[in-house]
Amino acid sequence: MKYDILIEKLSLSRTVGVLTGAGISAESGIATFRDPDGLWAKFNPAELASMDGFLRNPELVWDWYNYRRKIIAESKPNAGHYALATLERLLPHTTIITQNVDRLHASSGSKNILELHGNIIENHCVRCKKPHTDHIDFEEKSPPKCSYCSSKIRPSVVWFGENLPKGIFEQADMIARQSDVFFSIGTSAEVYPAAYLPQTAKQYGAFLVEINPTHTSLTPFADLYIPAKSGDVLPEIVELLEKEIR
Ligand code: OAD
Repeated sequence: MKYDILIEKLSLSRTVGVLTGAGISAESGIATFRDPDGLWAKFNPAELASMDGFLRNPELVWDWYNYRRKIIAESKPNAGHYALATLERLLPHTTIITQNVDRLHASSGSKNILELHGNIIENHCVRCKKPHTDHIDFEEKSPPKCSYCSSKIRPSVVWFGENLPKGIFEQADMIARQSDVFFSIGTSAEVYPAAYLPQTAKQYGAFLVEINPTHTSLTPFADLYIPAKSGDVLPEIVELLEKEIR
């Protein structure tokens, strides 16, 4: 049977970790970062995804996030997201650890989700950190003001040089250590600390599976490398698992 070792490992597993990156949302029409047509080929991360960049030019940064929010608001989960939600229904000990800020895992029905890089839907004050829950007008060119301290509002995403949300990486690291099977899906595995997770999982004995049409620095360490689009291969894997365990 195709993927027979993986299906066996999954059916015997007690913990499954799934690290996802921009590639899983590519088939939903959301650009990745480091592919040749990715966001970082066209835009400067230091200008658009750092506190310094925001303080230098808040209008430019806010406008760029509104541009991305609009695309994300109009996008829908794809077959890869839905397959992972089904995986969690079949194996409730599955946790998605995502670097994505688009919330498409939640929209597709996944429940156990750790957002390593925050999300683009929520916002908070750059100074007092209070959440800003007012409606966001995607056409607005400058950031709104905080209703408590009048400072600027920023998206609740993690920027370069910032810490990950409190406790989230620790939980993800624990999952990686406990995983019997660990997936790395649609990520270039270049951004740390997220990129430590598949390495940790492998070091602690997980069966490491990478799904990515392109080789990464992780590929030589994968027990199973599947050079395919996640939206094509994940439904097939989950269907095989369902047949095996039902
Ligand atoms: P990257 O853009 O670095 O990598 C996306 C990966 O997805 C590439 O390796 C592609 O080959 C792969 N890919 C493309 N289409 C795919 C598909 N249909 N199925 C499976 N894989 C596919 O994105 P990330 O690794 O997510 O951080 O980037 C990590 C972080 O860098 C992001 O969270 C963001 C960025 O700077 C912050 O904003 C903090």
